Amino acid sequence: MTTPAATADLSALPTLSTELSDLNEGQLTDLAHAAEIMIAQAHDVSALQNLRVQLTGKKSLLTGWSKQLGKLSNDDKKTYGGWLHQVRSRINEALTEQQEQLEIAALNAKLEAERIDITLPARGGQKGHLHPVTMITQRMQQFFVQAGFNVATGPEVESDYYNFEALNIPSHHPARAMHDTFYFDAHYLLRTHTSPVQIRTMEKSAPPIRIICPGRVYRNDSDQTHSPMFHQLEGLMVTESSTFAELKGLISEFLQAFFGKELTVRFRPSFFPFTEPSAEVDILADNGKWLEVMGCGMVHPQVLTNCGIDAEKYTGFAFGMGIERFAMLYYGIDDLRLFFQNDVRFLKQFG
Ligand code: FA5
Ligand code: MG
Repeated sequence: MTTPAATADLSALPTLSTELSDLNEGQLTDLAHAAEIMIAQAHDVSALQNLRVQLTGKKSLLTGWSKQLGKLSNDDKKTYGGWLHQVRSRINEALTEQQEQLEIAALNAKLEAERIDITLPARGGQKGHLHPVTMITQRMQQFFVQAGFNVATGPEVESDYYNFEALNIPSHHPARAMHDTFYFDAHYLLRTHTSPVQIRTMEKSAPPIRIICPGRVYRNDSDQTHSPMFHQLEGLMVTESSTFAELKGLISEFLQAFFGKELTVRFRPSFFPFTEPSAEVDILADNGKWLEVMGCGMVHPQVLTNCGIDAEKYTGFAFGMGIERFAMLYYGIDDLRLFFQNDVRFLKQFG
């Protein structure tokens, strides 16, 4: 398709005979001159291409005349051939030069259009930060590490033995119903608490033992205060003289240090097959409701025995804290599922 702008107006060229022998040098020079002016006026690439075809293409006057050279005498051939060559050279040169001019103009226009304003202020980098649950875990860990506890870890895919059996929860024990367990098969499951790390630790080390174990745990559970994947921080201390009073003192110290203010706390008698006696700790939240933050108790002698520790000689205490519950209280959040929805608008507030 040819746009109107691209159509070359050949009326600006002198009208010349199609017979080469009727021409003289002056006429050809005029033609070259007129062509140069037209070429210089071509304002876009397609108009220029049109001119190229009409002035020098197969059907152009110039090509037609060149074909007639063969009919001329040797002398005329030289003369006319020389003139034609000159005309064609001038036209080609003009075409090349105009082509370059148009390309430069196009590039400049593009640069102008895409100009970047380097004086605009920079947008500034967005600095990330740790997830609030990670920050709370670190804050909890900090206290216990200072109190002389070592950090232990264990697998999230756990065997029935470590998650239940060794913790004094045989199969068909009603306590299993309290943990809505995700099973892989009859032997393997996603750990429902961090307590199996107590067993793994006591199996391989002798008292005195002081460990904490933060980690992910899983239960088929979901509401405002329950998530199917959540975090616990387990604690275990086994010595020749551990007492419930010591456990209570340590937990109170921890709560004071963690929250940095007095809270209304209650130790509520409870039951776990692996501790005796057992308690659960509740904290009064801003909304006026008690929020259970951990289970704890004196390690059951059967559990010590299961791990090859002399239950006559040693006593221990253990606790398992719900990390998201601490995060809820610390940040004043009433639905812990927010921590796992990964809405950046929510997460950004903890930077
Ligand atoms: C236990 O898991 C025991 N292993 C704790 C324990 C350890 C007792 C050592 C004695 C000695 P419990 O099921 O209550 O206990 O869970 C412990 C804490 O995890 C709860 O107090 C609560 O704070 C938190 N928690 C429990 N389920 C969820 C859940 N689905 N989502 C978020 N937090 C939870
Ligand atoms: Mg509980």
